Amino acid sequence: MHDRVTLPSDKAQRYASVRAEIAAVIAGEPNITARYATASSLLAQAFPDRFFWTGFYVVDPDKPNELVVGPYQGTLGCLRIPFGKGVCGACAAQRESIIVPDVHEFPGHIACDSRSNSEIVTPVFDKTGALVAVLDVDSTQFNAFDTTDQSSLEAICADLLTIA
Ligand code: SME
Repeated sequence: MHDRVTLPSDKAQRYASVRAEIAAVIAGEPNITARYATASSLLAQAFPDRFFWTGFYVVDPDKPNELVVGPYQGTLGCLRIPFGKGVCGACAAQRESIIVPDVHEFPGHIACDSRSNSEIVTPVFDKTGALVAVLDVDSTQFNAFDTTDQSSLEAICADLLTIA
């Protein structure tokens, strides 16, 4: 059984704690879907106050310029996002994290749930540097994400493809 102790109030500490927890759970598990599922679950539980939708869109091997939804926590997400469309598609096309303080001002934003007001999307690369997925976190709060979220989520995404 997985018992959670109290969450550190400091954001960076909370990320350090959840990063270590994700690493411990995925160690020895080669299946990438199991890894994405673990990360989305533990991240959503670590930040219940800010993370409204937490999950992965993976690059479809049959359509290399299209993302298809992967493991997530939250309300129904759209199934497919072409590269370049919305925040996730922009992140996939640019291969860089994107922080959007107000999604209503982002051109082409895909509103899967009208309660989302800000988001961060981070690319996930494999060991060869190929883009394999993006991690999308949406919040009902405006301006919910900053560079601490970015660096921490990027580190966790790197772990998912590198931890043995
Ligand atoms: N917000 C995303 C779409 C996916 S969902 O909100 C789950 C975007 O514009 O890329």
